[in-house]
Amino acid sequence: MNKQFRSMTLAVSALLAAALLCGCNDVTTELTPPSYKTGLKEGELKMSAYKGPFPDHYASYMKNNESEVMTEYKGSVEFAKHDNVNPLPKGYKHAQPYLKNLWLGYPFMYEYNEARGHTYAVKDFVNIDRINRYAEKGVLPATCWNCKTPKMMEWVGQYGDKFWSMDVNAFRGKDKIHADDHTIGCANCHDSQTMELRLYSEPLKDWLARSGKDWSKLSRNEKRSLVCAQCHVEYYFTHKDNGPAAKPVFPWDKGMNPEDMYQYYKGHGAKAADGKPGQFVDWVHAASKVPMIKMQHPEYETWIDGPHGAAGVSCADCHMQYQRVDGKKMSSHWMTSPLKDKEMRACRTCHSDKSPEFLRERVLYTQKKTFDQLLKAQDASVRAHEAVRLANAWEGERSPEYDRLMAEARDMVRKGQLFWDYVSAENSVGFHNPAKALDTLMSSAEFSQKAVDLAEQATNYGIAPALAGDIKQIVPPILEMSRKLQQDADFLQKNPWTRLLPVLPKADQVWEGQEHLTSAR
Ligand code: HEC
Ligand code: HEC
Ligand code: HEC
Ligand code: HEC
Repeated sequence: MNKQFRSMTLAVSALLAAALLCGCNDVTTELTPPSYKTGLKEGELKMSAYKGPFPDHYASYMKNNESEVMTEYKGSVEFAKHDNVNPLPKGYKHAQPYLKNLWLGYPFMYEYNEARGHTYAVKDFVNIDRINRYAEKGVLPATCWNCKTPKMMEWVGQYGDKFWSMDVNAFRGKDKIHADDHTIGCANCHDSQTMELRLYSEPLKDWLARSGKDWSKLSRNEKRSLVCAQCHVEYYFTHKDNGPAAKPVFPWDKGMNPEDMYQYYKGHGAKAADGKPGQFVDWVHAASKVPMIKMQHPEYETWIDGPHGAAGVSCADCHMQYQRVDGKKMSSHWMTSPLKDKEMRACRTCHSDKSPEFLRERVLYTQKKTFDQLLKAQDASVRAHEAVRLANAWEGERSPEYDRLMAEARDMVRKGQLFWDYVSAENSVGFHNPAKALDTLMSSAEFSQKAVDLAEQATNYGIAPALAGDIKQIVPPILEMSRKLQQDADFLQKNPWTRLLPVLPKADQVWEGQEHLTSAR
């Protein structure tokens, strides 16, 4: 290649790169950031109030009610995510059969469904079996409301930090919240008077303060993702020894990767005798007795250093693409899977040189590889719990190093499952960050296998024969489990792991959705 030609190609590719970059930037700056005079009262929380001034945005947001269309791995049918036996709408071919096993002893084992649109948030919340319906109290902190409603602003204003540890059911009745008008809505992301983007979320505001960032100085592009990061992130509830009980916190101080969070959670738990916080624990697994962490939908943390996040492509670019309504350009407020659109328009705003089929195939390519590894990591995690369970009870000859080996084995169970859940709970099946998803799953399987090795060593390999072979035979998946079923001693006998759960006292249902069933309240 002669010198002149080379500099010419360089110039052309620089131009092309600039065009591509501008193309992307243009997408984000095409509409000026909103600053309206809405005439609405300050802090208006009701969704219906926004219908008058913004009929098109309101109509667009109501499309979040669509809850029947699936994509290959995701979509909007709220099927049970562990059920790979029944067809839709109960189960789905790409389900994860061991979820109830992996969360044994934690309310997540009762019910865990595929997410659907924001307009369902309150309805789905008051109907989930994770909140106790068989007692006056839901036995979960009011913090759980944090990601379901803009009413949070009112409640936190009223009760301050006492709010978080109040009982979740105290805010459940129709006198407290309107399922449609107070579901995730305009006020969660917009200032009611100017419609500028702003935060309602206490844990995100705390994080920005901790990391020295000022919302008003952040770029518009960052805000187009941070409004989603109010909820689509990993969080935990403050232990009462370390601050306002049950206040939500984002565990990001060491970084946003699974290893960073695993390190973070070595602290922030109950204070030990020496006055220092011990490890943070969400619950103790009922089979292995290992103190566990449950990860929750780390979309933001996964996306941020993936191919799109690193290139500055925001959540809104793909989940709120520009569209024309009556000739006017606006951001779609149907925040759903971009794959539901046959034309893949969200993607083609930037990838205009690619066909919809090509783009879809690229997504599915990543998702299939991720999902296959996810199932393997899940199996490894179940085997790890079983190994520690068997080793805990081992009465035969033990290694002289039994205690040390078992302490390490338990830690590997905890770490392996945390890594698996980071990908499992994340909602893009790898697409938001393919390399991180596969790396995390590979590490997960490695830690879980390490747990098995250590537990075997601790028992001088006494438990090894019981662990050899197909894990589905050794520990069958728990396909059915609910609060009602846990009141049934015979039912619990059916699976070797449900046998390990305590039988709950027989009780009648007290709450059905937002209705209080018994008159004595
Ligand atoms: C106030 C908390 C909150 C905020 C803010 C929020 N989400 Fe959500 N999001 C949720 C919850 C909760 C669900 C699940 C609702 C259900 O299943 O009932 C959900 C569901 C979704 C879904 C699944 C929809 C489907 O059809 O399956 C997508 C996609 C989504 N959100 C994207 C976004 C994007 C993009 C943003 C930012 C522009 C955002 N969300 C902001 C809480 C939030
Ligand atoms: C480059 C485009 C792109 C960006 C940027 C992006 N996503 Fe996604 N997102 C996708 C695709 C593709 C899927 C997979 C959808 C499917 O499988 O149906 C997805 C899936 C999801 C889902 C699950 C949807 C469902 O049907 O249940 C949620 C929730 C979500 N993304 C939230 C976010 C959030 C929050 C951000 C920003 C932190 C973000 N996404 C950034 C493209 C994107
Ligand atoms: C989960 C967060 C979220 C919710 C909920 C939400 N919006 Fe938005 N909205 C955004 C984002 C992000 C933008 C793009 C802002 C930008 O690009 O600067 C936007 C833009 C807008 C704009 C500016 C014009 C445009 O189309 O870009 C209007 C008006 C608007 N939204 C109205 C509403 C109304 C009305 C509701 C309730 C029915 C609502 N929004 C709910 C996040 C949200
Ligand atoms: C706002 C612009 C924008 C949007 C919208 C967008 N992308 Fe991208 N995409 C990019 C940029 C920028 C890159 C990184 C290019 C690079 O580094 O070469 C990229 C990279 C990719 C890659 C290669 C990633 C890799 O692993 O190397 C794929 C595949 C892709 N995008 C698919 C999609 C799909 C599917 C959608 C819609 C769901 C989408 N993109 C939406 C801008 C966008």
